[in-house]
Amino acid sequence: MFRTLNTRLVFSHLAVALVSVILVYAFAGRAIFQAAEQQAENRLEDLAFATSNALEEPMDYFMKGDVSLSNVQVTVAHWLADEPELHYTVYLPDGTPIIDNIDVEPARVTEDSAPEVLLALDDNIGEGHTIRYNKFGDEMFYVAVRIEHENDLFGLLRLGVPAQNVFAPAKGSMSALFIFMILIVAGVGIAGWLLGRNLASPIDHLTRAAHQFSGGDFSIRTHPSGPQEMHQLSETFNSMASRLEQNINQLRAFVANASHELRTPLTAIKLRVEALRAGATQDAQVSERFLAEIESEIDRLTNMVNDLLDLSRIEAGMDAELYTWVDVAALAQETSDIFTVRAQKKCISLEPELTTTVPPVWGHEDQLRRVMDNLVANALEYTPEGGQVKVSVHSVENPKGVQVAIQDTGPGIDEKYLPHIFDRFFRIGGTDTRKQNSRSTGLGLAIVKSIIEVHRGQIIVQSQPGEGTTFVINLPTRGEDLPKSQK
Ligand SMILES: Nc1ncnc2c1ncn2[C@@H]1O[C@H](COP(=O)(O)OP(=O)(O)OP(=O)(O)O)[C@@H](O)[C@H]1O
Ligand SMILES: [Mg+2]
Repeated sequence: MFRTLNTRLVFSHLAVALVSVILVYAFAGRAIFQAAEQQAENRLEDLAFATSNALEEPMDYFMKGDVSLSNVQVTVAHWLADEPELHYTVYLPDGTPIIDNIDVEPARVTEDSAPEVLLALDDNIGEGHTIRYNKFGDEMFYVAVRIEHENDLFGLLRLGVPAQNVFAPAKGSMSALFIFMILIVAGVGIAGWLLGRNLASPIDHLTRAAHQFSGGDFSIRTHPSGPQEMHQLSETFNSMASRLEQNINQLRAFVANASHELRTPLTAIKLRVEALRAGATQDAQVSERFLAEIESEIDRLTNMVNDLLDLSRIEAGMDAELYTWVDVAALAQETSDIFTVRAQKKCISLEPELTTTVPPVWGHEDQLRRVMDNLVANALEYTPEGGQVKVSVHSVENPKGVQVAIQDTGPGIDEKYLPHIFDRFFRIGGTDTRKQNSRSTGLGLAIVKSIIEVHRGQIIVQSQPGEGTTFVINLPTRGEDLPKSQK
């Protein structure tokens, strides 16, 4: 029953509202009834004292036998004429009732019949009051006062009004208050419902979007709405969905590319094998050439598969235990030394320009060496004879780290290819292997980029056709969240 956000909010609002309304109602009710009682008491008291003053003389004379009882009756009736609801009784000082406007057989004063009169006899100012049931079963509000002059007691006057009359206006106020309270509770309930809807509807939207997404509609996004937190959640969902969609698309593209790339050498091998079967083996020279070509295609396939395996290994962040502090300047020196022979063969000058005081970088040494190897190999490969390749390493501040630049005087890269240069399998000139180094897979720069990224670094390429190409790498001294030292 209380499972949805909306019902929970409505019921919690109602519960809080009900409790506070009941408390307010109880306290206000008490105050209202007390005020009504006080007011009635004051009014009745004033009336009783005024009447008792007027009765002093007639009662004095009556008791002396100078006037008849009707004289007293006229005076009482005259003073209380404006109060038709009033029940009044006049007693002699000994408690004998002599006048009563309602009760034809009024009782003598006793603790039961007129306790307020006993109170008035005992009281300093000569007044007593009670709220009690009379002998007819009606709840009454009684006030009794002494009729006296200085120390002479002539009698007692008691006035009574039905409690119903006293509390009627209070009851009216309580009914009005009750209706008002009901309206408040209803209002709070509606507010809870609106709030619940305001919260629940963006959650519903998000749930539906997540459902559709898990059902395969990767383009689904939600429209952020509702409170700030829901807004953020929707935005986070959207960016997560975008990332996933992008990744899924990249994965699909990768599978398509990989299949295509693998198919090309496989087709080449298959064709050569068919040719050999069909009789090419007769010609020793031809069969020798075909076998060499098959071997080279197999090498290419092996390279490609190894590169792909390495790439997924790098991206999965494996080999965490191999992280150490790496001297990038020393690596650059090493790489330049290794490639000197290849550079000399092509008459390319390969000059390292190193600062010996670069800070060490926390990283995977073999992977970082591979970055150098790939970039220097590319520079040497794509730079024509007589060119120049420069490898420079220096430290940078903010963020603290090392910058490596590999610059060549090669043909440069056309602007339209720059955004794709780090894509897997991307080679300028497409897949036509005859134009390229037969071992080339187009995975070199993708591997470089992945390695730099797992080291929390950046790589950019600057190139102008005809002006050469520069790859610039920034490596932080220690990327946050990189594997910890095993020592
Ligand atoms: N220094 C450079 N100057 C000009 N073009 C370059 C340079 N480096 C890379 N390229 C271009 O970018 C493409 C992608 O390079 P990448 O290293 O990824 O692949 P690759 O060298 O063709 O193959 P491999 O996987 O063997 O490295 C290359 O085919 C080449 O066309
Ligand atoms: Mg390469």
